[in-house]
Amino acid sequence: MFVADNLNVNSEGHLTIGGLDAVDLASQYGTPLYVMDENLIRDNCRKYVGSIRKFYNGNGLALYASKAFCCKAMCKIAFEEGMGLDVVSGGELFTAMSVDFPAERIVFHGNNKTRAELTSALEYGVHRIVVDNLTELNTLNELAGQMGKKADIMFRIKPGVDAHTHDFVKTGQIDSKFGFAIETGEAFEAIKAAISMPNINLRCLHCHIGSQIFELDPFDLAARIMLSLISKVKLELGYEIKELNLGGGFGIKYLSEDRAIEYEKYMETIAGVVHSECERLDIAVPRIFLEPGRSIVASSGVTLYTVGAVKVIPNIRTYVSIDGGMTDNPRYALYKSQYSACIANKADQPFSEAVTVAGKCCESGDLIGEGMPMQKADPGDILAVFATGAYNYSMSSNYNRIPRPPVVMLKDGQSRIVIKRESYEDIIRNDLI
Ligand code: LLP
Repeated sequence: MFVADNLNVNSEGHLTIGGLDAVDLASQYGTPLYVMDENLIRDNCRKYVGSIRKFYNGNGLALYASKAFCCKAMCKIAFEEGMGLDVVSGGELFTAMSVDFPAERIVFHGNNKTRAELTSALEYGVHRIVVDNLTELNTLNELAGQMGKKADIMFRIKPGVDAHTHDFVKTGQIDSKFGFAIETGEAFEAIKAAISMPNINLRCLHCHIGSQIFELDPFDLAARIMLSLISKVKLELGYEIKELNLGGGFGIKYLSEDRAIEYEKYMETIAGVVHSECERLDIAVPRIFLEPGRSIVASSGVTLYTVGAVKVIPNIRTYVSIDGGMTDNPRYALYKSQYSACIANKADQPFSEAVTVAGKCCESGDLIGEGMPMQKADPGDILAVFATGAYNYSMSSNYNRIPRPPVVMLKDGQSRIVIKRESYEDIIRNDLI
């Protein structure tokens, strides 16, 4: 029934998360509530950091893609575990800076960074800025020149690989809004232009083919294509690009039937491809960057809600209404993402129903899922939705002026708030009459 190893049932029949009773957490902190298990997050960070050591002789850096879940506490955890940080906006960069995250471990992404964002990245001295397009390349060259600096950059490349995942989270194919295409010759021309620019230091090529990917082949293919581009640049331009960023996208288990690739197998296979291709192409093995987001935090998260009305529409469906919804988890509304769930105070009982979990927004599409297997729900029950640690808090909104839930972090049997619950005062804070 459970999709993560830290979930269990105690003698009272309640769901436990990291050994703590979910029903107690709900009554202590209120609902809706995001709960995250720090031990699990740290274990996941260690896997990536360890595999850079094991498969690339330590010549690389695992960056946590902070868009999955960004706050001060999470930046601190990533830092303590030896990870770097992928930020994609001034706001994520600001969060990292607020905890003195070392600039030499930050990579700055984005397909349309503003001049202000580029300036603060240069001022802070981030390790690499990932350039998405020629306009940005020219702006960066100009800004760096004005500041008397040389910008260390990566190019975001579309390798032309179609990852088999939801259309909205595919990013490697030619019509993606991100980066330079190889097929059209655009990537090669941009590399030529960058090499000739006085204030640009082209260090690395980057690709990210999509998210929640369950197959190895697209990763394998992307690595080959990127390495052959590095080889072409060396042969035709005499310029050696010594770094390769393979992005993130590793899929995780949302449902018990999901078959995610085993992590070790994934790392070992891709590292094998990198090494054999480098030998074949006669290029040095580049310094490798990885950018996992979802696979670091998703399984560590559980969202707890209180059940309100249960509406049975005979022979059609049963709506179980909760005190949150698309404002704290917009992923079903956006991508029809599947989640598994249970009634936390009835976790020892078998699933007897298939229900539609509905949020409280004034919006018919405000659902967490349809046909979700569940124990019979009654008003006042605590509903737990699993694997909500990635792209839930970070994609939350204040639609209908609903305040965001707090995030409680669990560690070694203790809980603490890392993001406070928003109040109605917070909601009107920026309103002027
Ligand atoms: N690197 C880059 C350049 C990315 O664009 C992303 C995700 C990642 C790394 C991390 O990918 P991950 O390991 O988390 O798959 N909101 C969507 C996911 C969007 C992913 C955007 N980019 C969702 O909720 O499924």
